[in-house]
Amino acid sequence: MTASRKPIVGGNWKMNTNTESGTALARAVADVFPDIAGADHAVEAFVCPPFPFLAQVGEVLQAAGGGIALAAQDIYHEPSGAFTGEVSAAMLKDVGCTAVLLGHSERRHVIGESDELINKKTHAALEAGLTAVLCIGETLDQREAGKTDAVNKHQLTKGLEGVSTDQMADVVIAYEPVWAIGTGKTASAEDAQAAHAAIREVLANLYDQKTADATRIQYGGSCKPSNAAELFAQPDIDGGLIGGAALKAGDFLDILRAAAASGA
Ligand code: 13P
Repeated sequence: MTASRKPIVGGNWKMNTNTESGTALARAVADVFPDIAGADHAVEAFVCPPFPFLAQVGEVLQAAGGGIALAAQDIYHEPSGAFTGEVSAAMLKDVGCTAVLLGHSERRHVIGESDELINKKTHAALEAGLTAVLCIGETLDQREAGKTDAVNKHQLTKGLEGVSTDQMADVVIAYEPVWAIGTGKTASAEDAQAAHAAIREVLANLYDQKTADATRIQYGGSCKPSNAAELFAQPDIDGGLIGGAALKAGDFLDILRAAAASGA
């Protein structure tokens, strides 16, 4: 992490929690977060509860001072209409979301989302004024075939197609190697740094060096208190997108502490 980019850490709760455990988790994190962020707001944080709990978790976050942003795990690109089961940008804004994940690997590989759909969702999020957290990353087969950088380049280029330089101020990239998600296997700090540096180079080519230098790139994939500090110390790793460890308030707070310290 370089001092010019503020670290950003997200908790992706995936399809976990319920009303009681979700609000309790949010309260436990939000109550301590101001002490971690400090007067200079050393780290930004957001949590992504499942859709049914967004409003209630949002109320808890607001009651605690609003230091942690409310984010959704997905969005649909159409504004309204006959799209059974889907949720629009306006609906997310209505319940207080300020950010949304796009193209999470579970949406790409379990649900089957295409790069084209993810690009439409990215535009819908940005046009609504939501921060777009675009998730990219290679599978194990792709890594073993030496295609990590090519896959990331492809997903970035397609996902950001038509996104302007100005809009990039509201984009965060989350690099999540699929083989490291929920497996306990973390990319080594060196491997993650190499992927992040290559991602930043792609952004410089798609936009310009200034935009690339300003864009935060989170690491995700079995990030936990024991490895967060080393990952966040890498020059191109600007925080993390956390799955399993975000479901334990103590672990998530320790990761937030590591991120706050990395920007100092
Ligand atoms: P884990 O931290 O559980 O590996 O999940 C990472 C992730 O997918 C966050 O979006």
